[in-house]
Amino acid sequence: TLSSDDYQVADLGLAAFGRKEIQLAEHEMPGLMSVRREFAASKPLEGARITGSLHMTVQTAVLIETLVALGARVRWASCNIFSTQDHAAAAVVVGDGTPESPAGVPVFAWKGETLEEYWECTLKALDWGVEEPNMILDDGGDATMLVHKGSEFAGGVVPDPATADSEEFAIVLALLQRTLAEDSEKYVRMAKSIKGVTEETTTGVHRLYDMHKSGSLLFPAINVNDAVTKSKFDNKYGCRHSLIDGINRATDVLIGGKVAVVFGYGDVGKGCAESLRGQGARVIVTEVDPICALQAAMDGYQVTTMEDVVGSADIFITTTGCKDVITADHMRQMKHQAIVGNIGHFDNEIDMAGLAELPGIVKTEVKPQVHEWRFEDGHTIIVLSEGRLLNLGNATGHPSFVMSNSFANQVLAQIELFGKTGDYPIGVYTLPKQLDEKVARLHLDALGVKLTTLTKDQASYLGIEVEGPYKPEHYRY
Ligand code: NAI
Repeated sequence: TLSSDDYQVADLGLAAFGRKEIQLAEHEMPGLMSVRREFAASKPLEGARITGSLHMTVQTAVLIETLVALGARVRWASCNIFSTQDHAAAAVVVGDGTPESPAGVPVFAWKGETLEEYWECTLKALDWGVEEPNMILDDGGDATMLVHKGSEFAGGVVPDPATADSEEFAIVLALLQRTLAEDSEKYVRMAKSIKGVTEETTTGVHRLYDMHKSGSLLFPAINVNDAVTKSKFDNKYGCRHSLIDGINRATDVLIGGKVAVVFGYGDVGKGCAESLRGQGARVIVTEVDPICALQAAMDGYQVTTMEDVVGSADIFITTTGCKDVITADHMRQMKHQAIVGNIGHFDNEIDMAGLAELPGIVKTEVKPQVHEWRFEDGHTIIVLSEGRLLNLGNATGHPSFVMSNSFANQVLAQIELFGKTGDYPIGVYTLPKQLDEKVARLHLDALGVKLTTLTKDQASYLGIEVEGPYKPEHYRY
């Protein structure tokens, strides 16, 4: 069993419930479980010390136990203060006596962390005592960012937290000041030991490409998000399921007939717009990209600007990965009891800090992660998950079947980077198309899909092999 220093979760008493839901999830994650079976004997992750920073849900528990079954040791934190499912975290810590989970895995995560606690948890997941992590599995890039900033400031001066451009970055700087004063080489050693990172989401991937462009990336990265079987499934069909789940659990408001605005029509926006339309909402889209704006229009949505709809719409959902999409001034102009939520990775899409500073504003908690904000004139709006991703804050994130695709890619990416480090000089890579097609293939039987097989003659007519890959790299799906 783990020592109590080796985990921090809400309540170990929830482990049995967590285990039950993990077992249900395993059945709904055929791709991930097939990867587990395929590599259980060869143990390609033997020797891997993986620090994970990814929403600590039931589905993530299946991912963690797959990494362990493949030989890895793992330490985990959530990548959001509201996204942990406490029963899943407890079950992973307790373990169930099987080879995947003999004595449990260190997890530092609970639902409703403060930002200080969040960063402490991230640090604990990175802190392997006398050893160092040698792999990161990241979602949004916070663990990667901590190692990079810690390395950047090693031996120099950490900027004064008071100069930080956000409350959260001030917390990161204070953490770095403290830990670098104790051990100035802490993060440099980590960075040297880390063979690579596999990154889950659009926003984390943007950060990696930026770092690589500026020459500051310290280890190679696999962009899992842009596997077709990740972003075209999880981001789209996952959000199509979990957006509406979050809104329902938070408010139970009837969505049919309401006017809902979806900001951004990328992969997430497409799924969100469809889920709201499926409930009978009249959906309006905003976009900055003419291609996505045209797609939205051709899909039958009205495309306009925030200014046109701010006073008349009932539900506002940001999906952009951009900042300041909904400002405090926008929120002031909204209808009484308009619902405001974000499903993008970071909380800066909605200006919550600006909202809190409006004169006369009063915030009342309806229940955790649901707040009513009363303006000076007496009208109110409802803000979900304090502007953080509402599908994980107000509901339980994406369901197992879609996460099976994402996490099968994650495991294949970990195996690839850990096992073939020499093939990956510092840079950002995507998985080969054969692996993408393999992940999709692993999910067909469960849905009763019968695939057509090309004849040799047809394949040579198309200029491809019978067994694929079926599309050129530039194909967009
Ligand atoms: P994407 O790049 O495909 O789509 C974002 C869209 O927003 C783009 O089409 C862009 O043109 C548009 N956009 C950017 N700024 C805008 C603005 N100011 N106003 C209107 N539109 C704007 O990215 P994707 O994959 O859809 O991801 C979006 C965000 O959601 C990212 O932060 C990503 O990390 C996150 N994400 C969250 C998930 C969840 O479960 N909550 C799941 C997957 C991704």
